[in-house]
Parts: sequence; C-alpha cells; structure tokens
Amino acid sequence: MKEKILKILKDTRDYVSGQELCEHLGVSRTAVWKVIRQLQEDGYAIEAVRNRGYCLRESGDVFTREELAATLSTDWVGRNLVFLDLVDSTNNKARHLAEQGAPEGTLVVAVEQSAGKGRRGRSWVSAGGDGVWMSLLLRPDFMPECASMLTLVAALAVEEAIRQVTGLKSRIKWPNDVILNEKKVCGILTEMSTEMESIHYVIIGIGINVGIREFPEEIRNVATSLALCTEKSVKRAELAAAVAKAWEHYYGRFLQTMDLSLLMEAYNERLINRDRQVKVTGSAAGCTGIARGINKKGELLVETEEGLKAVMSGEVSVRGIYGYV
Ligand code: BTN
Repeated sequence: MKEKILKILKDTRDYVSGQELCEHLGVSRTAVWKVIRQLQEDGYAIEAVRNRGYCLRESGDVFTREELAATLSTDWVGRNLVFLDLVDSTNNKARHLAEQGAPEGTLVVAVEQSAGKGRRGRSWVSAGGDGVWMSLLLRPDFMPECASMLTLVAALAVEEAIRQVTGLKSRIKWPNDVILNEKKVCGILTEMSTEMESIHYVIIGIGINVGIREFPEEIRNVATSLALCTEKSVKRAELAAAVAKAWEHYYGRFLQTMDLSLLMEAYNERLINRDRQVKVTGSAAGCTGIARGINKKGELLVETEEGLKAVMSGEVSVRGIYGYV
C-alpha cells in the first residue's frame, strides 16, 4: 500500500484527498494516515492540509524500496527487486538468491554493507547512506569466456548514469573503474558460477561512492565520491535506477554481437588510459607501453617496444606510470 500511495502522490504532484486514497485502495482513513506518517518518516515532504488532502513536495535523498521501485523505468532489470537496509555484501546476497533460483534481472540493493567486497580479495568501503551498492543477477546463454566483457559493459552504464544524474563526465580506467578527477568513484566486481561450457549465473556488483567525504588513509589518494566532485545533491534511487536503465541499453547492444563491436567506440572515447603510458602487472607477461584502446573482445591494446600486445582483463592491473591512472 505504501508503494501505491507513493506512486499516486508522485504521479499527481498536487493535492490528493484522503477520501480519494481510501476509495482507491479500499482502506480506512486511519490506514492512509499511518502510511503518510511512515512516508514522512522516510524523508518525504508530504503536506497534509485539511479539506484538500495530501501533496508530495520535493524530497531529499530518500533511499527505500518504495522510492527505488517507483523510480525504476526498466523493462526487466529490477522487476524482482530486493532492497535491504543492511547486508554483508549485495554480491553474496545475489549469489544466495541465484542458488535458490531467482530470475534473471534480480536486483539486490543495500543501504549499507558490513563486508563489501572489492576485486582481488580486497574489501570495499560501503557505509550506510554514502553510496549505491547494488548487484544484478544475469543468467546469460553464452560461453564463460564472454563474461569478462560484461564488466566493461557495466562501466559504460555507470558512466552514462553519472552523467545523466549529475552532469559530470566521468572516464573509465580499463577494464572497469569509473574515474572522476583522476580518482576512482565506482568499482565493479563480476562473479560467476559456471560449468564446463555454460554459465549458471553471473553477478555484476556495482559500488558508486556518493556521499563519502573522507576515505580511509590507505585509499585517500585513489578514491573519490560524487559529493567531492559536485555541489549537486544526488538522489541514490535516481542514480541506481539510471544505472539499471543504462545497463539494459548497453547489454542489449552487447547481445546483438556477443562482443563489444558495437560498444568499442563509446568505450574508447571514455577510456582514461587511452594514449597514456601504462604498466601492466600481474599477468604472466607484464609490459609497459602506450594504451591505444580496446578491441572487440575487451582486451586492452598496448603499444610496447616489441609491438602491439592485447592484454586480457582478469588478474592484471593497469597503472599509469606516474600514479593511479
Ligand atoms: C573493486 O574492487 O573495484 C570492485 C568493487 C565492487 C563493490 C561493489 S558494492 C556492491 C557489490 N557488493 C560487493 O560486495 N561488492 C560490489
């Protein structure tokens, strides 16, 4: 009922009488009043005026299941929405749900993670109220080797969402860090379960730093947040919904060819490493050279003294020779 009342108030943007709400939902005036109180407690500015009813004024950064459900405009992502105030890791939760048969497009979103996971076994700072922590469950029908390209697709979706919501133009550090002012504002962790030549499921975990103003000492030089890059206040529900919508767009393009042929150009335009000196470490054959962009498999083409090398993502790390990017 909370979701329905919120939707009516959002769609109307004018006074809706208590009587109308009661009749529409088939409940008592007291029941409607209780829900209005709950919505006000969630942070909505709802005016209640005798003889006129209720009117939703502009609200702040309300991040609840109802707000996100009302903001999502996707076809399939988040139709099964799992919204949690606190979880260890949205990726863990999505994995658990996947094992229980949750459908493709299941979206797990949390206000706070107590044990957010980063790549290479690192932890991910995920305090409450400070970010968008979300994981998307996919059940794709392609070979496991294609899955590493999905992180690049996700980076494109995040870049697009940040631009739409804040106007900020971020860049991508290959393969999947989203960068603002030369620091990381978003990380993506893709995990999957496979068997021989098929994928059971893939989980794309996305963490966007929204309100964090102070980072732990160890990552202060490399991490940033939207709050540190813009004065504009960001609504997390709007940002999460924009990522979901952009994902549908870019993933749709990916599925047309099962590779990045149709996305390469957009990706390379946003690639912060492009034409910069990079050092690739962690792979069997590390190298130093100038990054020239990705190919349709999502590999980074690095011009080295020995010639052009195609570097696969996975366990490699790419750094600028003078710093993080
Ligand atoms: C990285 O190290 O760059 C990847 C960070 C991924 C963080 C996100 S937050 C939502 C999802 N749940 C997790 O535990 N991790 C990912």
